[in-house]
Amino acid sequence: MKTSDNTFATQPVNDNITSGENMSVWFDAVNQPISYEPLNSDIDTDILIIGGGISGLTTAYCMAKEGRNVILVEDGCIGSGESGRTTAHLTCALDDRYFQLEKIYDEPTAQLVANSHMKAIEWVANTVKLHNIDCHFKRVDGYLFLHASDTKETLEKEYEATKRAGLITEMLSAVPGIEAEDGKWCIKFSNQAQFHILQYLKGLADAFIQLGGKIYTQTKAENITKQGASANGYTVKANHIVVATNTPVNDWVTMHTKQWPYRTYVITAKVPKGKLPYALWWDTGDHDSKWVSQPYHYVRLAEYDDQYDVLIAGGEDHRTGQADDEEIKEEDRYTKLIAWTKKHFPGIEDIVYQWSGQVMEPIDSMAYIGKNPGDDNIYIITGDSGNGMTDGTLGGIIITDIITGKYNPWIEMYSPSRITLKTTSDYLQEVGNMVVQYGDWFAGADINKVENLKPGEGGIMSSGFKKIALYCDEENNLHTCTAVCPHLGAILQWNADEKTFDCLMHGSRFTTEGKVINGPTTSDLKKVVVVEEHPVT
Ligand SMILES: Cc1cc2nc3c(=O)[nH]c(=O)nc-3n(C[C@H](O)[C@H](O)[C@H](O)COP(=O)(O)OP(=O)(O)OC[C@H]3O[C@@H](n4cnc5c(N)ncnc54)[C@H](O)[C@@H]3O)c2cc1C
Ligand code: FES
Repeated sequence: MKTSDNTFATQPVNDNITSGENMSVWFDAVNQPISYEPLNSDIDTDILIIGGGISGLTTAYCMAKEGRNVILVEDGCIGSGESGRTTAHLTCALDDRYFQLEKIYDEPTAQLVANSHMKAIEWVANTVKLHNIDCHFKRVDGYLFLHASDTKETLEKEYEATKRAGLITEMLSAVPGIEAEDGKWCIKFSNQAQFHILQYLKGLADAFIQLGGKIYTQTKAENITKQGASANGYTVKANHIVVATNTPVNDWVTMHTKQWPYRTYVITAKVPKGKLPYALWWDTGDHDSKWVSQPYHYVRLAEYDDQYDVLIAGGEDHRTGQADDEEIKEEDRYTKLIAWTKKHFPGIEDIVYQWSGQVMEPIDSMAYIGKNPGDDNIYIITGDSGNGMTDGTLGGIIITDIITGKYNPWIEMYSPSRITLKTTSDYLQEVGNMVVQYGDWFAGADINKVENLKPGEGGIMSSGFKKIALYCDEENNLHTCTAVCPHLGAILQWNADEKTFDCLMHGSRFTTEGKVINGPTTSDLKKVVVVEEHPVT
């Protein structure tokens, strides 16, 4: 929450609550973190779910509804991953265009994709109704409008493709709510939705527990095998293991060559009630961007207080750890986002929250949901880019159908083992980017001397061939860890905005004290001791 001296809701990174220093707009309404007892004994179960975001909780709920014995373990609290940092659009207007899906796959697949996302929205609507979940769920329209770098041809092609995909869309010559010139043409997507994510997750968790499910928070799963996992040092034996950790923590390589981590930024601004309609807005993305994902802006309205709503606007993405490649630091991305939002929605008032989060971009435009490649009883839900609300919901539905042996027409197309051949240039560009990043082993550091660090600052220091992640806390204590990622050895980058050390290869992230926040790794950073600026490991 903004205070009189213009600071935002922050806290030292407490990965039990959320995965960064900045707090999202959602946490105020739930008063306290959604937590349960940690696991404190060995346990046997039919289904083990790892991760308490929308993917894990939906799967847990669906399996419990089938009468199965289910436990869910979460290393923080419910929603402490990216689900708590989302903007919670529920939409079938995906990050990638339908005409691109037709090209990468084919027309029938694009139809199935459209249908799956519409069904996911419907599933959420029905579940909210069934359990009377108070989460501000609303049906709204969505508007896909032109980014300043794009041409009307994109909208025309997309409009035709959405029709072929069986969606209810309309081409409009003006965008409701938007005043800027580049918002002139748009496609209207009917019957989309929005909700308050943490209130929804709380409702889903309550419903899961009523069905006999068990949730253990502050419980980290490690050593995941076909037999189960260890969690908080105890053994969990399971027949089926669902890894719903946003990026898989059970696999070292395979899935991490099929998706890439991006950081994305959000600001929220007060708007007098009634000034803007409840709706979703997205632009078609920056066609001049250096990033394969062509970052786009995404906007919605949410209830705030008696007098105000808040406009929640996101965008300005970059590959994790590579903000400087565009010479716009993480912390400066908000300024750009605020300027864009003011131009398109001039009626906004005070900025009341700002935060960032991480999304996993799949190389072939669709989430990976299903059996982990090579495994029969380990399942993953990942690669859900900016569509994780519907993809996470689909994850729960699809994996339940796989385990219970029900026919589901979406299983094959979302399979993590699918092979797509038409994305070679994007793939090579992202892989090339990864290889270049290993050059950081030889690059200079951003801190030359320990004494240059001020309280609240961090960075990477070189000492011979060693790279050290340094952080000076508000009490002037120095925290020193290796800056080498425990996953596959890339050098970490300091993120001054969220006060984390981020790995630009596959998105592992760590607190200032080296505790892991995002996979693929499950290991913390090793502490090192700096003696007269020479580290001793
Ligand atoms: C800023 C932002 C805006 C977005 N906006 C939208 C939007 O408007 N619409 C949309 O559809 N999508 C959006 N997304 C994407 C969407 O929020 C995510 O894809 C989705 O929340 C991912 O859910 P998840 O359950 O898969 O992962 P998470 O919510 O990250 O949950 C994974 C959980 O696993 C836990 N975990 C990790 N490792 C372990 C372990 N070893 N043991 C136990 N637990 C572990 C984590 O603590 C975490 O809570 C947005 C994302 C961001 C960052
Ligand atoms: S996350 Fe893979 S090397 Fe760091």
